[in-house]
Amino acid sequence: MTILVTGGAGFIGSNFVLDWLGQSDEPVVNLDKLTYAGNLQNLASLQGDSRHVFVKADIGDYDLILSLLKQHGIRAVVNFAAESHVDRSIHGPEDFIQTNIVGSFRLLEAVRAYWNGLQPAAKDEFHFLHVSTDEVYGSLEKQDPPFAETHQYQPNSPYSASKAASDHLVRAYHHTYGLPVLTTNCSNNYGPYHFPEKLIPLCIQNALTGKPLPIYGDGQQIRDWLYVKDHCSAIRRVLEAGRVGEVYNVGGWNEKANLDVVNTLCAILDELKPRTDGKSYAEQITYVTDRPGHDRRYAIDASKLERELGWRPAETFETGIRKTVQWYLDHQAWVENVVSGDYQSWVEKNYSDRVA
Ligand code: NAD
Ligand code: DAU
Repeated sequence: MTILVTGGAGFIGSNFVLDWLGQSDEPVVNLDKLTYAGNLQNLASLQGDSRHVFVKADIGDYDLILSLLKQHGIRAVVNFAAESHVDRSIHGPEDFIQTNIVGSFRLLEAVRAYWNGLQPAAKDEFHFLHVSTDEVYGSLEKQDPPFAETHQYQPNSPYSASKAASDHLVRAYHHTYGLPVLTTNCSNNYGPYHFPEKLIPLCIQNALTGKPLPIYGDGQQIRDWLYVKDHCSAIRRVLEAGRVGEVYNVGGWNEKANLDVVNTLCAILDELKPRTDGKSYAEQITYVTDRPGHDRRYAIDASKLERELGWRPAETFETGIRKTVQWYLDHQAWVENVVSGDYQSWVEKNYSDRVA
């Protein structure tokens, strides 16, 4: 028995692969294109581990994926591979359309061909789990209830629209061809190996290097934060016991305004690594021009997953964020490697036009 993980060199995918092999001996074939967001250093601890087979490839490569599925007798696919950053999708949507829509389609086609050729018992066992996001549901007002699985799709950014398209394809492959799919829609993750283009790792790193902590607009936008290892445990649980064709929302009931998140980071850093001038890192907070089309609030109702599958997050926001700050303090070499090279041109592109 072997599973295929796509995008397993990215933030959540690499945490998933590490957790999977930490708890099970079932091998993982890890297919990743190694875009700017993919990083084999995340998987360095698996070097020499025969349970982990890494393949550098695109999820849109139908022939290669079909042959990998056959060669390894794959019993489940977990699809993390995607372009994932909203701001990048605003600056250049093309890669999002290619990977998140066309790539997901080709991956589904290869999986469908493979699944059709399986013996009845293996066919019954097989699952395709698609990892998606709460952003497909759009934006909530302050008084609205959190997103349930039945919430209307209202994606607002090129990123969320491309993820919504892939969710629809996954749904259609179940409805039309009977492909045994599962979909998870999760809220904002944070934790180890988070690429420092995203709010939490960006602010930790900017704080430590004396740079501004850029708050888009008024900083009162709300996100619902989940520690990445809790997302991984939810995916494992859905793969193990989820009902085929169902969607499960994943979240930890941790709604926070962006400004509160950044102030919390500053307070933890003030304690763990005080600034040499004795001032608070919060002095580096800088309000900058807002993100176009910025969604005001996301919040996940995870009660279906909790009720049906008994899943619960292990971390609160307070425990998870402290672990995360400590991880970044302990892994500065990882960060320095990531922020060299191309990362600098992204920072220039995204922040130079924003008025402070
Ligand atoms: P990430 O950007 O850190 O990693 C994406 C990975 O996919 C990278 O390793 C990249 O090299 C790989 N990849 C990109 N295009 C590819 C292609 N065409 N073929 C093969 N590999 C390719 O993203 P992440 O934050 O780890 O997110 C993983 C998945 O989870 C995404 O599908 C995302 O939409 C979803 N998600 C993310 C969050 C979050 O808060 N980060 C929350 C909910 C859902
Ligand atoms: O909700 C799940 C989604 O969470 C995932 O689907 C995406 O892949 C993931 O990137 C994340 O999207 P967000 O846009 O919410 O994450 P980001 O870290 O980019 O931004 C979090 C919030 O912080 C958002 O309201 C924008 C704001 N922000 C972000 C950056 C990078 C700032 O205020 N300043 C910044 O510099």
